[in-house]
Amino acid sequence: MANVAVEAGVTGTGITRREFLYYIWGASMALFTAQAAGLLIWYLIPRFREGEFGGAFVLPVDSLPEVNGEPVNFPEGRFWLVNLDTTNPQGQERMYRAPDEDSEIKGVAAIYKVCTHLGCIYAWTPANNRFECPCHGSKYRLDGRRIESPAPRTLDRFRVDALAADKQTVLASSELKDNFWMPLELPPDTAFLRIDTGDKKNGPSQTLLCSFTDSCP
Ligand code: FES
Repeated sequence: MANVAVEAGVTGTGITRREFLYYIWGASMALFTAQAAGLLIWYLIPRFREGEFGGAFVLPVDSLPEVNGEPVNFPEGRFWLVNLDTTNPQGQERMYRAPDEDSEIKGVAAIYKVCTHLGCIYAWTPANNRFECPCHGSKYRLDGRRIESPAPRTLDRFRVDALAADKQTVLASSELKDNFWMPLELPPDTAFLRIDTGDKKNGPSQTLLCSFTDSCP
């Protein structure tokens, strides 16, 4: 009888070798499917939650500074919010149009708080109407354009969306020009701003503003 069982492929547990292999194959497939599903879920879950750096910040529109006013600091999002208008005669000492800018600069921008030179945290200096970096002296205009080096480029910016009162409907979004976020002119119905700190673009290497006045050190 034992010989008959071995020939039929029956194991000591009462299942045939073929059934045993089927079970192993089924278990492997179940494990593989579970792993794939886990990876997919991990990929789909947002890495950063709203309100933490790397994610989006939704702010009421009255968080904005006045036009060409001093920038508003959002330390938790690591950005400065600025409201720019080179056509506004008030505050033009802060936001003026440079000779190489062929159009007016108007709208809202969210500027990353890290200096483009070696990564220090710069600050707004009200007495001089500009951002100044304490580490090596780089200076930037209200919109982040560099005035003096050693900064190699203008300050980086985050994408801005204008939202309706439901906080969902997007009325307008920052546009890219040469892969850099342009200031966003807000539509009249804007109730909230969404700043996406996961969508940063590097500032361009424009001419230093001090070069136009021969005042570079
Ligand atoms: S890190 Fe800002 S000037 Fe060097």
